[in-house]
Amino acid sequence: MTAQAQKKDEPQFTPPNEQKLNDFMGQLVGDLGGTMTAAMVIIGDKLGLYKAIADGKPFTPAELAKRTNTAERYIREWLGNQAASGYIKYDAKTQTYSLPPEQSFALAQEGSPAFFAGAFQITAAMFAAIPKITENFKSGKGLDWCDHDHRLFEGTERFFRPGYAAHLVQDWIPSLEGVDAKLKAGAKVADIGCGFGASTIVMALAYPKSTFIGFDYHAPSIEAARERAKKAGVADRVKFEVAKSTDYPGKDYDFVCHFDCLHDMGDPSGAAKHVRETLKKDGTWMIVEPFAGDKVEDNLNPVGRIYYAASTTICVPASLAHNGPALGAQAGEGRLKDIVVTKGGFKKFRRATQTPFNLILEAKP
Ligand SMILES: C[S@@+](CC[C@H](N)C(=O)[O-])C[C@H]1O[C@@H](n2cnc3c(N)ncnc32)[C@H](O)[C@@H]1O
Repeated sequence: MTAQAQKKDEPQFTPPNEQKLNDFMGQLVGDLGGTMTAAMVIIGDKLGLYKAIADGKPFTPAELAKRTNTAERYIREWLGNQAASGYIKYDAKTQTYSLPPEQSFALAQEGSPAFFAGAFQITAAMFAAIPKITENFKSGKGLDWCDHDHRLFEGTERFFRPGYAAHLVQDWIPSLEGVDAKLKAGAKVADIGCGFGASTIVMALAYPKSTFIGFDYHAPSIEAARERAKKAGVADRVKFEVAKSTDYPGKDYDFVCHFDCLHDMGDPSGAAKHVRETLKKDGTWMIVEPFAGDKVEDNLNPVGRIYYAASTTICVPASLAHNGPALGAQAGEGRLKDIVVTKGGFKKFRRATQTPFNLILEAKP
């Protein structure tokens, strides 16, 4: 082969624009910093470092190490990353650090509506799944929800619970036709794909006259949900059972909910039909789904970026593991309506409300 022929076969690349390249490299440096800092957040969360400095008072590395029974040399390095990230403030004059009130709210205060540390646990599970998911890209096979690293289960609860605590009783249920009044008077409620039962327990605490049952096919999650119900003091009115969305027991429910799980399911159409069969004629089905528009271009934003990544490693494989349609976390209202109305046989369907992270959909027979 001549040198000329070889050159001809080589791929021809368009030369980059220097300014655009610099801008993109800047973005990549920021993204890499964020990705690596995720590991630091997970360590800080696990060791209680944020909680130990939640009061916002200035501290030295030695003081934090002593307070948390950790090695000062590691703490100093960790603090360097956190200060460079803007998570913790550094005062060069006094050589002390402090956690600003907003960062404390998001990273140290477990009960706050903005608590975010749980989300980083999910990223740890996503990284742990990389070898399997990489193979799945080639084979097209799935990875069941139950076969993920355990940090996915706890991380999901800790990431979602603040949103449920802040919105579910205050905004979402009141946005549905007549449901708040029914729950106040005493209704029968089923929470399908309930995970650790965060949503079930939030509702049970708010509506003491109603009874609640949470179903999930992941037995360890149901165990965890039972423990949490006991701790919250609602175990007398809240039961948790292992069951699939397509054959959970009971009927004549006044209110059935799916929180962030319909799109994960192997048979979302079967799940919709089963809700129809188990719901009272005048009952309501609430479907809480990740916020998404119907078209790819609607979701090319920071929230869509997070959801597409989680969907690639968690939601799509979860459904494919059961030969499902793999709706994905960015299913959008149009595709969900098709499942609920066309496949499930529900007559009424509407978007009741929304948040930057969630769509709240209401369906009635
Ligand atoms: C993203 S998690 C959401 C958990 C919970 N609803 C929450 O909001 O915290 C999805 C849940 O759906 C459950 N799940 C998926 N497919 C299911 C099925 N076919 N039947 C019952 N549960 C299912 C999983 O085990 C998991 O707990």
